[in-house]
Amino acid sequence: MDYSIETAPIETLTSDCIIIGVYQNQQLIPSDAGLSRSLQDLIVKVVNRGDTAGKLGETVLINVVPDSSVERVLLVGLGENKALSPKSFRKALSSAAMSLKKPFIKSIICGLAQAPVEGCNIQWNVRQIVEVFSDSVYQFTALKSEKETESKLQKIVITAPGSVHELAHTGLLQGLAIAEGINLAKSMADLPGNICTPTYMAEQALELNKNHAELSVKVLEEAEMQELGMGSLLSVSRGSRQPAKLITLEYKGAKNDAKPVVLVGKGVTFDAGGISLKPAAGMDEMKYDMCGGAAVMGALLAAVKMQLPLNIVGLIPASENLPDGDANKPGDIVTSMLGKTIEILNTDAEGRLILCDTLTYAERYNPDVVIDMATLTGACLVALGRIPSGLLGNDDDLCNALIKAGEASCDSVWRLPLWEEYQELLKSPFADLANIGGKDAGTITAACFLSHFTKNFRWAHLDIAGTAWRSGQFKGATGRPVPLLMQYLIDRTNAA
Ligand code: BES
Ligand code: MN
Ligand code: ZN
Repeated sequence: MDYSIETAPIETLTSDCIIIGVYQNQQLIPSDAGLSRSLQDLIVKVVNRGDTAGKLGETVLINVVPDSSVERVLLVGLGENKALSPKSFRKALSSAAMSLKKPFIKSIICGLAQAPVEGCNIQWNVRQIVEVFSDSVYQFTALKSEKETESKLQKIVITAPGSVHELAHTGLLQGLAIAEGINLAKSMADLPGNICTPTYMAEQALELNKNHAELSVKVLEEAEMQELGMGSLLSVSRGSRQPAKLITLEYKGAKNDAKPVVLVGKGVTFDAGGISLKPAAGMDEMKYDMCGGAAVMGALLAAVKMQLPLNIVGLIPASENLPDGDANKPGDIVTSMLGKTIEILNTDAEGRLILCDTLTYAERYNPDVVIDMATLTGACLVALGRIPSGLLGNDDDLCNALIKAGEASCDSVWRLPLWEEYQELLKSPFADLANIGGKDAGTITAACFLSHFTKNFRWAHLDIAGTAWRSGQFKGATGRPVPLLMQYLIDRTNAA
């Protein structure tokens, strides 16, 4: 897909379709100045006929525009004539994108960058246009014989007034970088477990290494993890024929001595539960249990593309979790790299077992902050549904920065408490810690478990069990929380 910014009036440009916003009171975006009298009249006529009331996300395609070089106009409802909320703006964009999945629409011109959005400037608007359109044309066809996609879009031109061209251009570059990161995350996550194995993920990381000089990628093998004493991580992969990999990606965008942001992502390429086997229904979706790891790779790629002036380290423990004669058994006790012993009461609580050793390993990077992301608990879906990711952490400033970044990127998070009292639930009569805390507060007890391994740095945990992929008719990875991470990283560079 080719994206660009144009400052010329929208009607002077050629394309298969131009996108124009219409409020309930018939005001248009771009406002009058940008449109000819005759086009305005035509649109008003369509609106007056009742074909659209300008309701948010409503669309009408006008497929003939007499006496004009404009081929088609897609009207998109923007609701009440006032600044849109960021989420409403994205809703308008995605309905526009959905209704342009037509074989005859190959190029479009989008006039919506000029719609006022609460607390946002044109840079943000342009970035969202790129992200939303990129998301809507994404289709996972890698494993289909027929690669036909619903969308034939190849070219998107975004119009912006000349006075804000620079801002719009920055938004375009950010949008392209983030969209690329999201696409990488999605296309890896949508792959099935028989293809996307820990080895495959490691190969993908090495591939990134090849193409981008700012990145250095190293993959730790099981023997090295053994040396490091990662008994907890290795206990999970012991039940699988695929060897575990600990993938490390280092991006250097700042001075050598600048403390890095460390991103840790759960990379369980298939989670059958192990001996505590999961029920059969919907188990295929456990191929998505590596979405945290995929997001870390996506974020690193986006950071490279944006040339962020930060040091960032990505750590991805990748493993399968399967039942096997050599797999963990309920009651087994393993020793983590930190030295703490763990009684594994449920082998399906494997994410925390691979994350804890990775978090201990993170210390050697002398991190400024560590953010881990994991499809960690079904309980998170029960608590929060599929709208925000769960957020827990040991540092209010970091958590608040993530909440703010979540709002700004429309990739929201909701904080849950990590109070001392919950630690009770993880007591084991036989080991230092149990790996589960019973049926109460499952998302919190999972984070409590991780908190034992994050005492020496500022840390936040994102439970993305409800947000990393969609189930049902539109089953597929979302690429979340890449937008949130990138917003957080951009905010950090702006604050510095
Ligand atoms: N990967 C799952 C969590 C999960 C389940 C994410 C469903 C999204 C949808 C994780 O490894 C897991 O199995 N967690 C258990 C923990 C329990 C045994 C304490 C769970 O949530 O049931
Ligand atoms: Mn599990
Ligand atoms: Zn899992």
